[in-house]
Amino acid sequence: MIILGIETSCDETSISIYTKKKGIIINEIYNQKIHSIYGGVVPILASRDHSKKIIFLIKKVLKKKKIKFKKINAIAFTAGPGLPNSLLIGTTVAKTLELIYKIPSIPINHIEGHIMSIMLAKKKPLFPFISLVTSGAHTLLVIVYKYEKYKIIGHSLDDSAGETFDKIGNMIGLKYPSGKKISKMAKFGKKNFNFPKPIINKNNFCFSFSGLKTHVYYFIKKNIKNINKYQFKCDICFSLEDSITEILVYKSKKALLKFNIKYLSVVGGVSANNTLRKKIKKMTKKINKKSFFTKKKLCTDNAAMIAYTGYLKMKKKTKYKQNIKIKIKPKWKINEKF
Ligand code: KG4
Ligand code: ZN
Repeated sequence: MIILGIETSCDETSISIYTKKKGIIINEIYNQKIHSIYGGVVPILASRDHSKKIIFLIKKVLKKKKIKFKKINAIAFTAGPGLPNSLLIGTTVAKTLELIYKIPSIPINHIEGHIMSIMLAKKKPLFPFISLVTSGAHTLLVIVYKYEKYKIIGHSLDDSAGETFDKIGNMIGLKYPSGKKISKMAKFGKKNFNFPKPIINKNNFCFSFSGLKTHVYYFIKKNIKNINKYQFKCDICFSLEDSITEILVYKSKKALLKFNIKYLSVVGGVSANNTLRKKIKKMTKKINKKSFFTKKKLCTDNAAMIAYTGYLKMKKKTKYKQNIKIKIKPKWKINEKF
């Protein structure tokens, strides 16, 4: 079975191919650069860029792997959550291919894609496991009882962890997306500032990062004379990374203990963060649990996780009726039907 994956939910245009025999054989990702000058994703520019690149990328992937379209059994595409106009580009292309080639197209939930990306790693958790989904748009704690059986136990009440990195990065002059850049600068910094860890002690599994963002905003305003000093910026990066990672680790630990689950999987863009990985490993070891991390290349948005999730759906339900109705779900929750 050969599945073509399409991902266009935000600012990455990605095309991938999963085969039953060999797994992911190709995963092309085009990161849109245009947003960096605006400090965040501009939706209309994102969809325009997707529409410019998507056909070119599909052709490139098929050519590189010498696969004729006729050989493809299904197209898996991200139908939500995400930016409506961006989702529409991937969806329209998938539905057009469905119509032309008479093969099924399968709508995939982007978050489910991130959760299942752990199964493309070398070391995989057993069910049930807890998934910490930490990306640019979401911060969630989910119990994965089995494939397609999810329970969201915590979510962010406001900003996500990735968004907090990006917005504070913007304040100190780093280009969007700045999570990785902050992490690099943090290596040269010290914990000179004690930034808050909002609602860490609240008796739930939810997150809140907007207070941390506002605190750092006023802190920078108060210390504006230092803002061009490299060391000052590195210390901000260190202290920020420290607060965000502590919150993520603490809430994950609480969830593992409360639900008595052995395995923790960490996925999404922020899961590429090395400090987070180290702290999670240390925490899980201490409480006799095990942690698992998505391959670095598959942390941020990619079509490999979409193609793979599509493969799982095809395995379950082999008869797909042709349906060329264009439908997206920009706020699609993983425990909701499409
Ligand atoms: O999963 P993703 O591509 O986007 C969404 O699905 O929303 O994640 C992108 C986010 C951005 O906020 C980016 O700054 C963050 O992941 N990120 C990181 C690192 N690499 C990417 N944050 C912290 N440390 C990193 N190494
Ligand atoms: Zn994502």
